[in-house]
Amino acid sequence: MFNIMLLEDQPAFRDIVTEVLGMIETPIYIGAAGSLMEARQLIEERPWHGMISDLSLPDGQSLDLIAELREQGVLIPTILVSGMLSPEKENKARALGIDKILAKPFRPDEMLAYVHEIIADTHPSTGSKRVSTASNPKLTGDLLSGLFSMDRNLDFMRRLVRDIPSSGGVIDICADALTLAVDMLHADGGFMAFFDRSRNQLSLVTSQRKSNEPLAQECDLNCTPFSPLLKGHEHFLHIRGEAAKGTARGSVKELWPGLGFGPAIAIPLCLQQQSVGVLCLVSDQWQNKSITDQDRLTMQDILIPQLDTLLDNRAVHAALEESMKETLFALAHLLEARDKYTRDHSTRVSSLAVDFAEHMDLDATAIDSIRTGGLLHDIGKVAIADAILMKPGRLTTRELSMIKTHPNIGDTILRNMDSLVVEREIVRSHHEHWDGSGYPDGLKDEEIPLYARIVGVADAIDAMTSHRCYRGALSVAACREQLEEYSGTQFDPDIATVAIAAIDDGRIHTQAGSIAGMESISNSDHA
Ligand SMILES: [Fe+2]
Repeated sequence: MFNIMLLEDQPAFRDIVTEVLGMIETPIYIGAAGSLMEARQLIEERPWHGMISDLSLPDGQSLDLIAELREQGVLIPTILVSGMLSPEKENKARALGIDKILAKPFRPDEMLAYVHEIIADTHPSTGSKRVSTASNPKLTGDLLSGLFSMDRNLDFMRRLVRDIPSSGGVIDICADALTLAVDMLHADGGFMAFFDRSRNQLSLVTSQRKSNEPLAQECDLNCTPFSPLLKGHEHFLHIRGEAAKGTARGSVKELWPGLGFGPAIAIPLCLQQQSVGVLCLVSDQWQNKSITDQDRLTMQDILIPQLDTLLDNRAVHAALEESMKETLFALAHLLEARDKYTRDHSTRVSSLAVDFAEHMDLDATAIDSIRTGGLLHDIGKVAIADAILMKPGRLTTRELSMIKTHPNIGDTILRNMDSLVVEREIVRSHHEHWDGSGYPDGLKDEEIPLYARIVGVADAIDAMTSHRCYRGALSVAACREQLEEYSGTQFDPDIATVAIAAIDDGRIHTQAGSIAGMESISNSDHA
């Protein structure tokens, strides 16, 4: 029995491969895995003589698994199947010793030939007779090409979600989208340019081409063939290039200065249904061949609307949010800088909370949120008068209740920031207490968001170990005692334990020294 592992998540493709393998005389056992995780389990089951693997699986890339197996000394002759294989991925595959690479759409006979080769290499004695898939109706005709195009779209959608960053500048998003379009349509290269209507100029945003020679940054629209796209007369241009140049001399224009006359295809880039630029892909394949509906559909109905959404929602929004975030950080910093006692308080709280989160083994995303939430936790104090914030003596009940509005105010400030949803919880709930005695919502134990509990402990520690206008800093030892005393009432006991360990490890410092005197943290701290 010849054992082949089939690493492919789409049932329709598994069926095709099963059909192909079914035509081979040698008895073959097929073990199918739909994800890298399933493949890892399957590896243990039996010896595998060959593997047919898709490149992209829901939980990652098969090349990573193959590299992992190689490191463990497991070498399985592999046929790599891929819809879009970038030169980098191809190099990586070849470096892993994979020389059997099939680009979708492949002919079933190509796969069959590779499987025969593997059988001949690993089971030379079996002498499996070569067969052809031509007689198999399931492996010929429209059904197969339909499956390939469906597969291509699925792969494309997956890459749109996974490869194009959720934030980052407009240029990064355009560059990723261009790479995707080039891969998707098997083009040789291409470029994207935005249109400056007032000057009738196109400005290059990103380009990809074999030659490293830089392209001109700007070009007059009238010198290019893209005017019909930007004026809304056309939604798709098929530029046949030099061949067409001969037939319509004078009317054919260079795609971009120095880039030649095509062949190429181009579509308008749209933002909120407005043409704002052009995406042009160049490839010799479009010299004579007519554009398939599939290519047109891919460009117009999938890539461009998606790019519109990405640019509109992510880049523009992210850029705005990013600048708002910077403004908030600056505001938080400014707020603290007014008072020498609280200067850098948020930075210290943030670092301390991150330290605890790291020791609690939280993941990188959580740690990022805690870092930002720590920096912004007191942002609501912008609305509280300096006279109250910096009052040296004890606060009146009214003043205290005013101070206690700061988590609510901070929550309101961050209300419209889509990228700070988790941080907003930290801002709102960092004064909640484990026993429910905190504010503003009187939440208790695990009702309090975990990150807010962590920042809450860090905040209390920094308040205790720093000088304040109304009291001196506590020593680290006194702070440790307070943590122990208020563990399970003010503080989440688990986080208090982490904080105590941080003190014992010497990771927490104090400003205590010359100024003596302290009051209980619960009633004297100005929050
Ligand atoms: Fe606070």
